[in-house]
Amino acid sequence: MTIFGHLHLLRVIPLRAVTFCINNTMLSASSSSANLLITHHNHTKAIDSSKKVLVGVCQMNATSNKADNLQTILDLVASAAGRGAQMVFLPEACDYIGESKNQSVECSEPLDGNFIHQCQKAAIRNKVWLSIGGFHQKAPEQEKSKLLNTHVIIDLDGNVVATYDKAHLFDLDIPGKVHLCESDYVLPGKKIVSPVQTPVGRIGLLTCYDVRFPEISLALVQQGAQIITYPSAFTQTTGMAHWESLLRARAIETQCYVVAAAQTGKHNPKRSSYGHAMVVDPWGAIIAQCSEGTGVCVAELDLEYLERVRSEMPVRLHRRTDLYGRIAAPESQISTIPPDDCHSYQFGHLKITSNQVIYRTLLSFAAVNIKPVVPGHVLVVPLRATAQFSDLSPAEVTDLFLTAQRVGDAVKKHFGATSSTLAIQDGPEAGQTVKHVHLHILPRKQGDFKENDDVYQQLESHDQDWTPITKLRTQEEMAEEAAHLRQYFYHS
Ligand SMILES: *[C@@H]1O[C@H](CO)[C@@H](O)[C@H](O)[C@H]1NC(C)=O
Ligand SMILES: *[C@@H]1O[C@H](CO)[C@@H](O)[C@H](O)[C@H]1NC(C)=O
Ligand SMILES: *[C@@H]1O[C@H](CO)[C@@H](O)[C@H](O)[C@H]1NC(C)=O
Ligand SMILES: *[C@@H]1O[C@H](CO)[C@@H](O)[C@H](O)[C@H]1NC(C)=O
Repeated sequence: MTIFGHLHLLRVIPLRAVTFCINNTMLSASSSSANLLITHHNHTKAIDSSKKVLVGVCQMNATSNKADNLQTILDLVASAAGRGAQMVFLPEACDYIGESKNQSVECSEPLDGNFIHQCQKAAIRNKVWLSIGGFHQKAPEQEKSKLLNTHVIIDLDGNVVATYDKAHLFDLDIPGKVHLCESDYVLPGKKIVSPVQTPVGRIGLLTCYDVRFPEISLALVQQGAQIITYPSAFTQTTGMAHWESLLRARAIETQCYVVAAAQTGKHNPKRSSYGHAMVVDPWGAIIAQCSEGTGVCVAELDLEYLERVRSEMPVRLHRRTDLYGRIAAPESQISTIPPDDCHSYQFGHLKITSNQVIYRTLLSFAAVNIKPVVPGHVLVVPLRATAQFSDLSPAEVTDLFLTAQRVGDAVKKHFGATSSTLAIQDGPEAGQTVKHVHLHILPRKQGDFKENDDVYQQLESHDQDWTPITKLRTQEEMAEEAAHLRQYFYHS
């Protein structure tokens, strides 16, 4: 059963064809939106419908009978697909819930075992993506007394595109109510998995108890997540007290859709789950929730709406990283936001088309240069158009420099340099011509200038017409270079 909230009331605000990334002014609320509705009615409608997708969220009462549970999964997936869902989410432990730790370990299967194989076939048969919220994965040989609690994403061709091993294990002892010690038989996951691009949006993979740790969800947002999933088997006691509050809080603070499939009912004499599988929108409204028992509910996700929530209340810009540091994923796990998420990027009074953009994060982008002073001279720019360096928020400064570091490493590698010059021309007296803070990165080589500091003189004059140091490059040349450099950040 589907319960849609009063979301539609909010949607009377017309949608914009472009999002906040093109211009700073778009960050503020919908001042001139009425105009847009009239003049671009058809256009906005088209974009509107293209960004809305349906997801199916399942609730089930798994037992230790693997065959029965698999049949339930197949029925739920078929039912959700029949209702138009493009992706179906199953709860944690959808393969089985063991009656003892030993049984849980004994019944576990490898990733290429029968259970996942059957799920892959179901994805192909129903032409849907699947989130297998958690299955008991056999641990490596040397750890065979334990297992991994693994969340698996399968695409509609049946490929396993991502796996995430639950990081926070649920060890709880409330005398007389619940006693569970997951770490007795489960190995904790060792890494955050970068958000996965799917037809319904970029999904950050988490599991159940992870919902109590906002840091990990914020790290996923930094990397570009639009949807956070918490497939769960929440206990009755903790569910009654916290389930809805936690899911709504994570949705509100991350400004993501939260999708939480759930186990429900009495799985065995010792274990029961709370149920209430639900989808929460980025404003915190519950837009779908399963009824009692086994079933599936369908929710509509609208990424335009998500962008609007983020534009109207840009909490990502307001983070005081100077006071409490930045929630950041390790260096190796970088943004997954593709540059083509926007048609074009505002750069002062100019527009940079997305095919000239190399890399983008939540707050910054990097682009190739129309008139490079040296080969590989690129720019790193905050998405918010602001003229002075001192106007950047701590979160923007942090993001700008982390982006510069990553992009700098890529251009040095690509252009065979081991040194680079980084420069910000902060204000017109410092040579700034485009009134939008930007950082130049120039790979440097032996003998590229007569005197080292000549680089600054050339930087100052390179974009002034009366001193044509280098000729303007064509759009095609720039797009080609950007495509080469993107390979350092995105796997096609
Ligand atoms: C960008 O913002 C400036 C004000 O900061 C405004 O004057 C200009 O019209 C905006 N450009 C677009 C394309 O919206
Ligand atoms: C929208 O486009 C269709 C054709 O694509 C046209 O017939 C219709 O009049 C347009 N409506 C508006 C409000 O512009
Ligand atoms: C569980 O398995 C361990 C070793 O595999 C064994 O020592 C123990 O007796 C078993 N416990 C139960 C309750 O079967
Ligand atoms: C869950 O399954 C168990 C075992 O089959 C059954 O006893 C129980 O009634 C079911 N509970 C719900 C709520 O479906």
